[in-house]
Amino acid sequence: MKKSIGVLTSGGDCPGLNAAIRAIGKAGRNRANIIGFLDGFRGLMQDRTMRLDDASLSNILTLGGTILGTSRDKPHRMPIGGEVRDMTDAMVEVYNHHHLDALICLGGGGTQKNALRLKEKGLNIITLPKTIDNDVGLTDVTFGFDTALEIATDAIDRLHSTATSHSRNIVVEIMGHKAGWLALGAGVAGGADIILIPEIPYDIQQVAAAINRRQRDGKRFSIIAVAEGATPIAPPEEEKPVKKKKKSRAVEIAPSAHVGHTLELTNQLEHLTGLESRLTILGHLQRGGSPSAADRLLATRLGAACMDLIEDGVFGVMVAARGETYAAVPLEEVAGVRKNVPLDHDWIKAARKVGTCLGDAPME
Ligand code: F6P
Repeated sequence: MKKSIGVLTSGGDCPGLNAAIRAIGKAGRNRANIIGFLDGFRGLMQDRTMRLDDASLSNILTLGGTILGTSRDKPHRMPIGGEVRDMTDAMVEVYNHHHLDALICLGGGGTQKNALRLKEKGLNIITLPKTIDNDVGLTDVTFGFDTALEIATDAIDRLHSTATSHSRNIVVEIMGHKAGWLALGAGVAGGADIILIPEIPYDIQQVAAAINRRQRDGKRFSIIAVAEGATPIAPPEEEKPVKKKKKSRAVEIAPSAHVGHTLELTNQLEHLTGLESRLTILGHLQRGGSPSAADRLLATRLGAACMDLIEDGVFGVMVAARGETYAAVPLEEVAGVRKNVPLDHDWIKAARKVGTCLGDAPME
């Protein structure tokens, strides 16, 4: 008898999701009926579905985004009519209602944790690692990253000619959440002069000094690639701004953690270097459009491997990329493990060797 398998995409979209959905559907076409749940865990809770058949799987390999739609909703913290509720049991009911043999969740770090919650409720869950941030633990790489890397590198390439023509500093803000893979990779590949990543808190004086050294060498422009999650080193105690006491209990809207810090950095650099400075925020451009060949390949092989694991009855795992093959990593091991750039990573070593400033004191 054919199996029944559900698929959903959760968290921020990225190029390669449709390639993975297609691989799952095509690899499973003779052994399973496959249904897609729309808009991540919210669609699972609401039992909103689409059939993943030949017609819906056609012509999606090269398509960006996800044909299933996505959301950042979590099973245990679902906003519903002004309240936040734990809807995990409602999802278990939908799973049982469809007599599913397995549910495949395509997502990043947050999705691994949410998938584990469903696994702990007794469901057969299997996940694939996707995100442009490349920050999911225990996999060599995530799909979506390669495409975003190309886009960010191309942006840095283009910023070079305008920065040179105007003798300016151009700060380019690159996504990546709390990891520096994208900014570091694109910065090295695009030849950025300064690269700032969350893993190495930066000293603004060191950044300005690097730009001023370049000016003394006759280079009157600099490209500064900054990860959205990069932070300055903590100021000494006496320089810390005194926190004002809150006067009222009015509702405060928390700004996204990184908003504004790259603009402040750009203004500081103009002041410290005397060069006109501009900011470019690449934002969601990095997540849009057709996946690269490498992402199509990765998504296709992980999607196909996922169907083999289901066939073998292997559940409660993430299908991780390991060299030219894959590994089934227990969700307990991957949930909550963020992969940051190790300080001894080759990309960091290479950047330093070619003279790129990483915002800390120059190496002797
Ligand atoms: O996780 C992918 C990512 O693009 C991060 O790099 C970024 O911090 C975040 O998502 C942006 O999220 P949203 O699309 O919800 O604004």
